[in-house]
Amino acid sequence: MELPNELKIAIEKVMDNTNIKQLKQDSENISFRYRNKSGKGNRLLTENSEAISYSIVRMPSTYAAIYSALKNTFELYNEDIKTMLDIGAGTGAGSWAANSLLELKQITCLEREDAMINLGKSFMKASEDTCLQMAEWKKTDLVSEELNEKADLVICSYVLNEMNSSNRMKTIEKLWNATKKILVIIEPGTPVGFKEIRELREYLIGIGGKIVAPCPNIDKCPIKEDDWCHSTVRVSRSKIHKLLKDGDVPYEDEKFSYIAICKDKFESKNIRRVLRHPHIESGKIELKLCTVDGIQEIVVTKKDKENFKIARKTKCGEIY
Ligand SMILES: C[S@@+](CC[C@H](N)C(=O)[O-])C[C@H]1O[C@@H](n2cnc3c(N)ncnc32)[C@H](O)[C@@H]1O
Repeated sequence: MELPNELKIAIEKVMDNTNIKQLKQDSENISFRYRNKSGKGNRLLTENSEAISYSIVRMPSTYAAIYSALKNTFELYNEDIKTMLDIGAGTGAGSWAANSLLELKQITCLEREDAMINLGKSFMKASEDTCLQMAEWKKTDLVSEELNEKADLVICSYVLNEMNSSNRMKTIEKLWNATKKILVIIEPGTPVGFKEIRELREYLIGIGGKIVAPCPNIDKCPIKEDDWCHSTVRVSRSKIHKLLKDGDVPYEDEKFSYIAICKDKFESKNIRRVLRHPHIESGKIELKLCTVDGIQEIVVTKKDKENFKIARKTKCGEIY
């Protein structure tokens, strides 16, 4: 997957006026902070050049993860969505992803850091899309401030894992109150990221939320304590991305865990979600599935032509 063309161009323009050595240093600093200082409510990204580096190194992957999560969600959820809140918007990946899939009329981005706000806003102003151009950006601290805005869709991607557990729970309550129709939370596809998603899932079901994706219609998550549920999306890497990350491979696989939960009545279909990358051998494909009856491991053989064809094309995180 790739960023929308006009976003790629906007990032390249900003990058042209920035020192590559500085961007590389920033990229290393950001990675270090996210590995070692996240989960404690620290400010991890404050400088203008760090925001630019984030937009080159991380935004293509967070965009791809959000886009995939939203695509899976809106394949199952058909409500009319006109307004959205992008919570902890960073440089705006969530808004760009939602705007690519939905007929939005109004986008509001809430973010704490000026550097992210200024860059994210400048990318949207450069767009030809009126909704992106007109997006409102509000400097907000999700922990210390109340949220007065409400929207049909609330997206919070790669944000809650930066907070400590008590602030995360307080914030989720605010996000639920701000949601008119559906809340989508996306976190890194790691054991820690999934643990957070599982906790939020239980909490939101407890206060009346209805799961739309990725889970089938079951209240108790059947994934074992030592396991984790995630989806994967393949993201193209630009030349500058490879340079900043010292990599040769033309793509990277972004792993993410997510939950989409709605407020109104939702008739869940009897879906089976692929939990792991399918294991393909000659003549057979092994699939690990999350179903209404719990986890199932099935083998599809070549003899079963129709299902074999479908299984071959199915990826981790998709419906089988
Ligand atoms: C990893 S970035 C994710 C940005 C964007 N959502 C994305 O998916 O690319 C996390 C963002 O959350 C913001 N953030 C973290 N804690 C926050 C808080 N308490 N209030 C507002 N924004 C916050 C950070 O400033 C940062 O821009």
